[in-house]
Amino acid sequence: MRKKVTVVGAGNVGATTAHRLADKQLADVVLIDILEGIPQGKGLDLLEAGPIEGYDCRVRGTNDYADTANSDLVVMTAGFPRKPGMSRDDLLKANFDVVKGTIEKVVKHSPDCILIVVTNPLDAMAQTALKVSGFSRNRVIGMAGILDTARYRTFIAEALNVSVQNVQGFVLGGHGDTMVPVPRYTTVAGIPVAELMPKDKLDAIIERTRKGGGEIVALLKAGSAYYAPSAAVVEMVDAIFNDRKKVLPCAAYLEGEYGIKGLFVGVPVKLGAKGIEQIIEIKLTAEEKAALDKSAASVKELVQIVGV
Ligand code: APR
Repeated sequence: MRKKVTVVGAGNVGATTAHRLADKQLADVVLIDILEGIPQGKGLDLLEAGPIEGYDCRVRGTNDYADTANSDLVVMTAGFPRKPGMSRDDLLKANFDVVKGTIEKVVKHSPDCILIVVTNPLDAMAQTALKVSGFSRNRVIGMAGILDTARYRTFIAEALNVSVQNVQGFVLGGHGDTMVPVPRYTTVAGIPVAELMPKDKLDAIIERTRKGGGEIVALLKAGSAYYAPSAAVVEMVDAIFNDRKKVLPCAAYLEGEYGIKGLFVGVPVKLGAKGIEQIIEIKLTAEEKAALDKSAASVKELVQIVGV
């Protein structure tokens, strides 16, 4: 039997995620939104692409949470996107209400699902989802690190004129301007990136990565990124549904790992059928640890504002 995924929010990230899930034949998809007609229309349009693309996945849109019942996995994208000049943090209160309300409904109908949170500010919204759902921490995962790392890998590959597939690395910390790309663990076909690029060039790439979301917002003017975010979500779904045990940077609820307790922060995790199956702790230099602590402190500020 095919797996069932509910995507909450049929906007840019949600609809593109549904499209990618069907294209990869990963699951039947229910798109749900507060707007009437939009999820139904996009769902039907995606269903009608099936005969051409060759997928049998059922895609449908709805406004009724009963249709989401017994989902194996739920992707939370509902909320308001960032407008130019607006920080992720400005979105906090508006999106907190949306995430709280929709998670309550979704978990009532799918008590055994795994939750992937995309709504920004990411780490605080993932924490909201964890607290509101009452789920164990392996079943609530924030999507940010794969996206931030993809941006970082893109810029490095472009600068060195090599395949993006050769560039490996990860970004730690919160999904915001304090995120922590780690050059020491960044390699190009196994070669440490510092051997291939002068420090000032790498520093500029790190800075561009930190502001990667804002760069897209400034270009689009109305709305924020969705192609790369939806691709990142689908990599997570694929790792979970195929029990790949794939090590990926994701936002996870830390309970003492990295010296951080009771907070969602981006770290390398192992994703498999149970969701987060392991939080991988790597050794950090004093400087890297300080940067991670600073990033965690900015997440904590937001979490305290919403009180989760
Ligand atoms: N219930 C269901 N859907 C809702 C609700 C709600 N209470 N409130 C808002 N929505 C829907 C909107 O109607 C809209 O269709 O969420 C959708 C959001 O879509 P977009 O505005 O296109 O935003 P998108 O680009 O998809 O980004 C969604 O992901 O990357 C983050 O920062 C981004 O937080 C934002 C989220």
